[in-house]
Amino acid sequence: MTAHSMKLGVFDSGLGGVMIAQAIRGALPDIDMVYLGDTLHVPYGTRSEQAIYMYTKACIEHLFAEQDCQLIIMACNTASASALRKLQQTYLPQAYPERRILGVVVPTIEYAIERGLKHIGLIGTNYTVHSNVYEEELRKINPAIEILQVNTPLLVPLIEHGGMAWMESVLDHYILPLKEKGIEALILSCTHYSFLKDIIRERYGMDVIAQDEIVPAKLVEYLKRHPEIDRKIRRGSKDAFFVTDLTENYAEKTSEFYGMPVNLKVIEVSYG
Ligand code: DGL
Repeated sequence: MTAHSMKLGVFDSGLGGVMIAQAIRGALPDIDMVYLGDTLHVPYGTRSEQAIYMYTKACIEHLFAEQDCQLIIMACNTASASALRKLQQTYLPQAYPERRILGVVVPTIEYAIERGLKHIGLIGTNYTVHSNVYEEELRKINPAIEILQVNTPLLVPLIEHGGMAWMESVLDHYILPLKEKGIEALILSCTHYSFLKDIIRERYGMDVIAQDEIVPAKLVEYLKRHPEIDRKIRRGSKDAFFVTDLTENYAEKTSEFYGMPVNLKVIEVSYG
């Protein structure tokens, strides 16, 4: 590949990641970007490590091989918690040693540490919370930081399937106990939860760490530190949005998350 001929990939288990893609578009308006949501297998958050790895690897391989991505942002917390390290350590060095995959866990932790937070709350999918990856990564840097994690499995289905009328009572159930414990900030560790950041800020008066507000700036910093990666990505302001399964609801939701109409195309990914 020649300089400036490749793309930035954004991967998510489903469609929540388009909020990260939109925020990246705001920070890097000229970059060529490809989004892939594995809607055929969403949700990942209730699946096994083996299944998440198999689906994630297949989608990442598609973004590298078929879409010429130089760098992929793994916007999905569940995939970042489960599959990212193995992909970076085993698959990438063999298959694409010149390309990179960045997750969302480390940038979020770096941000919390930069802010000097010591007593943090986190809400996430079943897999992300039970993997304990946030606590492990935080403790590596500062063992004194305390993180209280709550598994919040009802939030994604409510967001995806028109359940906003019930959202406040479900959020109360999950978040009020964290508020009572006096957390300094709440990490929203799931792509979809950026959709809830304003409700949570207003309803609980909480300091909320939303990944669509962190990841783009961290990506810009990364590209500055890695000009060898940056110069391979084309600047043509092009977007393409791919999913592995398409329904009317997906199309509507994506446009709602992205804040403007999005043309979703279905592609076939080989999960073999
Ligand atoms: N994208 C997932 C995440 O960020 C949430 C949806 C799912 O469970 O697949 O963890």
